[in-house]
Amino acid sequence: MNSPVQKIKERLSIEEVVSSYIKLEKTGVNLKAKCPFHNEKTPSFFISPDRGTYYCFGCGASGDIFTFVEEFEGLDFKGALKLLADRAGVPLKAYSKEMKEAESEKEKLYRAMEKAEKFFISNLETKQIEYLKSRGLSEKTIKDFGIGFAKDDWRTLYEHLKLTGFSDLEIERAGLIKKTEKGYYDRFRNRIMFPMNDSSGRVIAFSGRITGEGEPKYLNSPETPIFSKNAVLYGIDKAKDSIRKNNFSVLVEGQMDLILSHQAGYKNTIATSGTALSDSTVSKENVVSNLGLVRRLSENLVLAFDADKAGASATIRAGKIALSLGMDVKVVDMPDGVDPADLIGKTGSDAWREAIKNSKHVIEFLLSKVLKNYSNDTRKAGREIKGTILPFVNALESSIEKMHFIKKISDLSGISQNALQDDLKKIEQEFRYEKEEIKEAGESLTKMYRKDYIERKLLGIALWQQSLADVGRPELGRPTSAIDFKAIFEKLGEVYKKYEVVKQDLIFEAEVFYTNNEKLENSITEMFLNLEEENINEELSKKMLELRQTSNEEIGKKILKEINELNKKKENIKNNRK
Ligand code: CTP
Ligand code: MN
Repeated sequence: MNSPVQKIKERLSIEEVVSSYIKLEKTGVNLKAKCPFHNEKTPSFFISPDRGTYYCFGCGASGDIFTFVEEFEGLDFKGALKLLADRAGVPLKAYSKEMKEAESEKEKLYRAMEKAEKFFISNLETKQIEYLKSRGLSEKTIKDFGIGFAKDDWRTLYEHLKLTGFSDLEIERAGLIKKTEKGYYDRFRNRIMFPMNDSSGRVIAFSGRITGEGEPKYLNSPETPIFSKNAVLYGIDKAKDSIRKNNFSVLVEGQMDLILSHQAGYKNTIATSGTALSDSTVSKENVVSNLGLVRRLSENLVLAFDADKAGASATIRAGKIALSLGMDVKVVDMPDGVDPADLIGKTGSDAWREAIKNSKHVIEFLLSKVLKNYSNDTRKAGREIKGTILPFVNALESSIEKMHFIKKISDLSGISQNALQDDLKKIEQEFRYEKEEIKEAGESLTKMYRKDYIERKLLGIALWQQSLADVGRPELGRPTSAIDFKAIFEKLGEVYKKYEVVKQDLIFEAEVFYTNNEKLENSITEMFLNLEEENINEELSKKMLELRQTSNEEIGKKILKEINELNKKKENIKNNRK
């Protein structure tokens, strides 16, 4: 029997899948494109339709339709499998039944969240519907976004999920209940519930808005095995196609803004939702990785938030990072004290369309705010320009663009270009480290991912083969596994520890991928070679950095020698492949 992976690959060509995300050009028998996984101007991303694979000579990204969808959509293997199976019309049901026993903990949590969503929806009463309507939401929108209600009770959801067959531990792990000495109670009570979905549409968390006054206004799910506040852009599942089609995205703050923007026809809207980008505990790397995901869909980003909060807005900070990643960033000029939800709710879709059309480049936007606020104090205006605007100019990649904005700022503020240049130099020094860090985070994203990816695959194969050996017939002295999984474990070393929680997922993935695959042994060899190559690459970038930083000639020579050695090793690997 063919595995679903094989069936999907038979029905969907790599050309078809990749071209639905990015534009491809023909080159002989192959196809090429600008790599979606790193920033580049000339295409170095190649596709081989014969082999069903892709490879980027710029950043080393490589794989098949599954890895492509995983990386592009930011999904795990199951998410990609679900998405491609849907698209290919390959049913997964029968297969997943077989896999029932191996159903991972994560899978159970996804199901608990799905059940909770349905339960909350069934709780919606006229009162909440009226409230949502008063904020401008249509009934269709309420349905589309799965909005529900958590009743003002202590344990209705808990009891419902217990009856449906979930254990206390599972419900707690899903972040839906809390424990006290007196037992469990529902985390969300008397709140309007907004489900949050990952990019394949699975519910991974909730955000609950209080119905009247009170604190906190929004209560979010805690971190769980399926939800990391680092990883989610609210609405990405519904926005991604539209971002691609329209070639820009709109970034807003919060559920209501997002939902109303979608309703007003801007389905290319995504939101930070009290989590992701706007949380100060979220690391820069994660903001970069979220924006990296959006950048793959389109390089053009429009920010919209209550201008009153501009100073405190995480969105504007994300805007600076987006500039550093080479994106084009604009800002919607909103009246003070008004957020997109207010604007759309009160004045309708046309006003929103106008506002987006009139959005300005982020630097112009910031400049006009400063000039307005300090119109009669040029010294203060100067200080503000240096403090808040030049860091954005500094974030720009191209010197031509930098010059363009220096001139513009000079024209509008009356400060001489020379003075601005001097200050910009100082800022370049001050932020040099941060800028490099961001760039590197952006670039290493794919590379890190690739190494992780290979390790995970190998570990999955070893675990899968081990599980086959375990259920083999020891009395015959012959495990069903033909692969030397112990050797794989040994070579991988400590890696094992990182993946303890997703063990079942990895086994599943390996089984779906490699059952009846005659080339398994070859694949393993290839993966170890790739892994070694990745390790050498890592070592190489370290040495290059050391080389750049040293001014000592002796040390420089020594490092060069080491670099040579590493390059030789890489050559060897290449020859080994042939
Ligand atoms: N937020 C949160 N926790 C809070 C307050 C806010 O997670 N205690 C997040 C929510 O995602 C919220 C966003 O930050 O949507 C913006 O907050 P705010 O502007 O205060 O709320 P609004 O989105 O305007 O909410 P509403 O329009 O419903 O009042
Ligand atoms: Mn609001």
